[in-house]
Amino acid sequence: GGIRVYDPGYQNTAVIQSSITFIDGAKGVLRHRGYPIEQLAEKSTFLETAYLLLYGELPTKAQYTLFSTEVMHHTFVHRDLEDIIGSFRHDAHPMSILTAAFAALGAYSPEGNPSLAGQKIYTMDTEASLQLMDKQIFRLIGKSITLAAMAYRMRQGRQFVAPPANMGFADSFLFMMDHLNETNYRPHPTVAKALDTLFLLHADHEMNASAAAVLQVGSTLVDPYSAVSAGCAALYGPLHGGANEAVIRMLISIGGPENVPAYIERVKRKEVVLSGFGHRIYVSADPRSTIIRKIADDVFALTGKDPLLDTALALRDAALKDEYFISRKLYPNVDFFSGLIYRALGFPTDFFPVLFAVPRVVGWLAHWRQLMLSRNVKIWRPRQVYTGEGERAYIGMKERE
Ligand code: CMC
Repeated sequence: GGIRVYDPGYQNTAVIQSSITFIDGAKGVLRHRGYPIEQLAEKSTFLETAYLLLYGELPTKAQYTLFSTEVMHHTFVHRDLEDIIGSFRHDAHPMSILTAAFAALGAYSPEGNPSLAGQKIYTMDTEASLQLMDKQIFRLIGKSITLAAMAYRMRQGRQFVAPPANMGFADSFLFMMDHLNETNYRPHPTVAKALDTLFLLHADHEMNASAAAVLQVGSTLVDPYSAVSAGCAALYGPLHGGANEAVIRMLISIGGPENVPAYIERVKRKEVVLSGFGHRIYVSADPRSTIIRKIADDVFALTGKDPLLDTALALRDAALKDEYFISRKLYPNVDFFSGLIYRALGFPTDFFPVLFAVPRVVGWLAHWRQLMLSRNVKIWRPRQVYTGEGERAYIGMKERE
């Protein structure tokens, strides 16, 4: 009973009170736990920002050492995961593989599964509950790079590589992929730093579609592996994390800066979208896009400029001058330039969403942890406005003509 507010796409519904990430979409402001994204991108690292997002404060040296040691320790995965990932076809999309691998991990951590371990294991306000929660968090963050690297190599028919000792997060990921296929490959420090910063920039973005999916699923008190798998599925979509892949396909299809005006006209006729533009929250430039544009220059200095960059810049400039985009307040988002960097680093296009999913595991878990620790976790069970038939009598198939 009662009157429900109909709000398609949750455009006006706040589903949670959160102290993790603040966005002012009109001013293009993004802060994690109060720290501006520009300062974090310049001075922090991915794992340090991960700690900040999860626990609310920048870590002391001792806290950081403990956290990073735990995460890196948990990069190892059960060998059965090799069979699971190895059973996919070589042309499977790596996001399908990653989504499945996260779900499978839950089966390998029965102690972290509330339905097996006895219900409310994460929502209890005890030291044991907190430790159990942290352990699943370390596991998921650590294993994300290993699973992603395995998805990468499986598709090339190459042996999996075990996590290296004494390397950082982004370095270990690069090492396990060896995406340049070099003997005795060691990640280039500029490449590792660029990837670490890209990871940092993608780590969280308040109540986005995939974080909401994680919380929706997590609100049933299911294990966090299943919840993260749901987040991964949500991120796969072209309106969300799949956009970085869609941008590159769009740039290739446009073919060169000279064809940009024609493409803009097609966008305005609503035949196609301008991938990497627009955002539910930002009605000004996405601050991450500005930082990423600078990282692109560092990477291109090393790898040489991607020929698609000219098309991308022409597209951006044309859109920013066009009334269609101005009136709708459409600006480049995080995905507009990131794909160009991933391409320059030698990653295949369909791997780009994975490079978004891996760091976003941190944001999902920060939101999941916050939800579990909030006093009374309510199951997320929205309402609907029913528009179908009233009651009618069943008719046998023979009489249905
Ligand atoms: N190209 C062309 N028109 C657009 C675009 C675009 N990229 N984005 C929005 N519009 C138009 C839209 O058609 C609508 O026009 P009208 O008022 O005439 O109907 C108007 O702008 C408002 O857009 P909306 O679709 O109502 O906005 P939304 O908040 O529901 O959607 C969005 C946000 C990100 C899904 C959308 O802008 C979009 O589809 N962008 C392209 C995909 C993309 O780049 N996604 C990545 C988002 S950022 C990070 C991430 O989540 O991965």
